[in-house]
Amino acid sequence: MASVTTTSKSGTAREDLWRCVRCGSDANPGADDSVVCGACGAVYPTRDGVLVVRDEITGNNEVARKFYDGPTWPKFRFWEWLTFITNGGERRSRNKVLKHLPKGENLNLLDVAVGDGVYLPWLPQSWSVVGIDVSRVQLESCKPRIQGRDVRLVHGEAEDLPFRDGTFDACLSIGAFNYFNDPEKSLREMARTVKPGGTIVISDEVPNLTDRAVFHKIGLASLDRWLIHQVTKHLGDEFNAMVERYKNLDIAAIGKRVLDDCEYRKIWQGVGYVLVGKVPG
Ligand SMILES: C[S@@+](CC[C@H](N)C(=O)[O-])C[C@H]1O[C@@H](n2cnc3c(N)ncnc32)[C@H](O)[C@@H]1O
Ligand SMILES: [Zn+2]
Repeated sequence: MASVTTTSKSGTAREDLWRCVRCGSDANPGADDSVVCGACGAVYPTRDGVLVVRDEITGNNEVARKFYDGPTWPKFRFWEWLTFITNGGERRSRNKVLKHLPKGENLNLLDVAVGDGVYLPWLPQSWSVVGIDVSRVQLESCKPRIQGRDVRLVHGEAEDLPFRDGTFDACLSIGAFNYFNDPEKSLREMARTVKPGGTIVISDEVPNLTDRAVFHKIGLASLDRWLIHQVTKHLGDEFNAMVERYKNLDIAAIGKRVLDDCEYRKIWQGVGYVLVGKVPG
């Protein structure tokens, strides 16, 4: 087994986890904690405890990678904190999302866009988690949170998951879905890698958040634009273009196309949403 995690508990190793993102065949643990595809010869190395399946990243994913590898991203934690304190506190706010995950011990969870793993301490200690993200800096920041837990970290993209079909009991993805290069493709990938009947929980801010400022309600849309510009100007044009790209994304419709029993619900007084559904089959 490739000891892709720094902390995997013995007895929980998964040799049957990996799939080649280049050709789609099963891949297997190789030398030096690498993962190797026997069909096409691709070798995915492990660097500092993180399995690397993608070096080159493009489009929105590259804009996100640059942002989350850079120094500005902690500013976003302020907006998250503000959302939480105005919605009954951190536990209550996070629970609006986490309560949709299945209950039980020893479950296998995939966390897509795990970031710095801020949600990990809120998950049962007995769960095995695989976290994937495009940002190396975020995955590094995740490491202190995975000590003593069975967590594997992977550097790769939501649209191309390096895991075999039906591997996980559930999948969680928080704070990234609207900005993926291809949100629907990523949801199809999540559904592929979760067992039939398994749960997928996705949460993010509503895609048209930048239309939700107060002034347009009293006929002063230009003041809205000014206000939003004040908040986002330091993020740069490229980042703002990424945020605007999927402003009209119909999350509920995407969910219905891919999942069974799919429900889209606004949370946090309408600034966020949670999408929950089951994998068909
Ligand atoms: C706002 S953070 C959320 C992190 C964590 N889930 C949380 O709730 O705090 C967004 C994360 O999504 C990652 N990300 C963006 N696009 C991605 C993609 N296509 N595949 C994987 N990760 C992606 C970024 O690198 C970043 O770590
Ligand atoms: Zn291959």
